[in-house]
Amino acid sequence: MGRLDDKVAVITGSGRGIGREIALMMAQEGAKIVVNDLGGNTDGTGTGKIADDVVAEIQAAGGEAASNTDSVAEVAGGEALLQTALDAFGGMDILVNNAGILRDKSIFNMEESDWDTVIAVHLKGHYCCSRPFAKYVREHNRTGCRIINFSSVSGLYGNFGQANYGAAKAGIAGFSRVLALELAKYGCTVNTISPGALTRMTIPLRENRGEEVDDSDIEEGGPQHVAPICVWLAGEEAAGITSEIFHTGRGGVAIMQQPRVIKQFRKAAGMWTLDELDNIVPQLIDAKKANMESAEISGKSIEV
Ligand SMILES: NC(=O)c1ccc[n+]([C@@H]2O[C@H](COP(=O)([O-])OP(=O)(O)OC[C@H]3O[C@@H](n4cnc5c(N)ncnc54)[C@H](O)[C@@H]3O)[C@@H](O)[C@H]2O)c1
Repeated sequence: MGRLDDKVAVITGSGRGIGREIALMMAQEGAKIVVNDLGGNTDGTGTGKIADDVVAEIQAAGGEAASNTDSVAEVAGGEALLQTALDAFGGMDILVNNAGILRDKSIFNMEESDWDTVIAVHLKGHYCCSRPFAKYVREHNRTGCRIINFSSVSGLYGNFGQANYGAAKAGIAGFSRVLALELAKYGCTVNTISPGALTRMTIPLRENRGEEVDDSDIEEGGPQHVAPICVWLAGEEAAGITSEIFHTGRGGVAIMQQPRVIKQFRKAAGMWTLDELDNIVPQLIDAKKANMESAEISGKSIEV
């Protein structure tokens, strides 16, 4: 018996990298898989048929899978994804919004097309695929469904040269918190992954620093390490766990802080004067530093 027997999972961008590993592991756990992938280049140009290869891989291992090559950046693509699941398997229970591209440039060189294309695939892509699924969940009162979204430390912490990608990935974290509230009534959880993995998206960054990536690096830090928490979150055991951000990769699994007020002052009457803020703001900054230091300590890895 698998943990996802009888479930239907749609995994965007699962022709390679992290998505492929999630598709293979969900199939091993008994889910029927829609492998979606446009099959293009890292910068979002081009197309290809790599989704078919992952479908063949799943079928060869005794699983069930169907292929879809629509773009997640289009409303029609998101609707076609749901339709592929309905046509092939008669339902849909799990959506993993994993598809992604990069167009890294500092703001000085970032053209409108670099901004629009990255926002379209990541942030709008989450909307395009989630909306038809959310409507389907509500209309069919399909309980126990799951949405797993893909953010990044680029958006959650910030990363030089990724204003487009970081904005999209921070937006995805916000999108997920709202969706978690809106879908709670239907027992559908919405969680976010912040992954770290050596894939075609990240290997060039290592190579640009003059570091070679070999098979043992992939074994230690490849995309397979991101799959387990995603599969776990899709299972029955994760019912009730929603609106969380899990950071994972390279053998690590962690839960992240969500934005919260750390310290606040309130004036009984009137507006703050600028002179008062001279005194108050440093106290707020100190409280934030203390909070970060405490998170750094509690966030240190525990070897198991
Ligand atoms: N690898 C990392 O360390 C890392 C870190 C942070 C976040 N992420 C995120 O994890 C996700 C997976 O990344 P990866 O490293 O496996 O990348 P990857 O490039 O190996 O895989 C992404 C896949 O998405 C597909 N795709 C791109 N645009 C698409 C579209 N419009 N429609 C359908 N498919 C499309 C690509 O063809 C590709 O196969 C992405 O959202 C990425 O931003 C990855």
